[in-house]
Amino acid sequence: MQFSVAIDGPAAAGKGTISKALAARFGFAHLDTGLLYRASARKVLETGWSPQVAAEAVTADDLARDGLRTQAVAELASQVATIPEVRAALVAFQRSFARRDGGAVLDGRDIGTVICPTAQVKLYVTASADVRARRRYDELRESGQAADFDGVLDEVLKRDARDMGRADAPMRAAEDAVVIDTTDMDIAAALAAAVSVVEEKMEGTAT
Ligand code: C5P
Repeated sequence: MQFSVAIDGPAAAGKGTISKALAARFGFAHLDTGLLYRASARKVLETGWSPQVAAEAVTADDLARDGLRTQAVAELASQVATIPEVRAALVAFQRSFARRDGGAVLDGRDIGTVICPTAQVKLYVTASADVRARRRYDELRESGQAADFDGVLDEVLKRDARDMGRADAPMRAAEDAVVIDTTDMDIAAALAAAVSVVEEKMEGTAT
């Protein structure tokens, strides 16, 4: 069975948590596509290669390496993600993941619009910038890292502007995406909303 779930939205809106939980619940494979851009950025930092060459060299093994979650890698990832040749180098990996048997959940910024425009389910998970910055700040503090709220908010706003403003595959909700705004929702409520969209679609597909 091929069934793909495309989940897009800005950083720290909850899409990673929702994606993992949906994949576990329905037995689908999960790909966090941000890791492809992060792995490309990390290769640039390590090797000095051009972003395009780095992206062309990314393999599945690179996605499991440590050190992809730092702020420095995230910042460079959003810069290399503006380069059309980088995005093009990463398309085939994502599309073949989406087509795998048994179902797949992919989360990112352009999954419903560019990577899987025919996905059975498209979600756009968002939240106010203030709430997303607060979540990111709490995560950093809980993991023992130093952080100041204004700095985190600034980083969130800068990344949003770059992701939405780029010419190639800008972050936006597909026209047929269901929008889940998690600003005033806890994770259980957001997940329940996502599960009901998937179940409805699966029932419709089965008949
Ligand atoms: O989701 P994550 O924060 O890991 O993504 C890092 C960066 O990679 C994003 O800020 C965005 O610029 C880029 N990205 C993208 N398209 C995707 C996934 C991530 O441009 N599908």
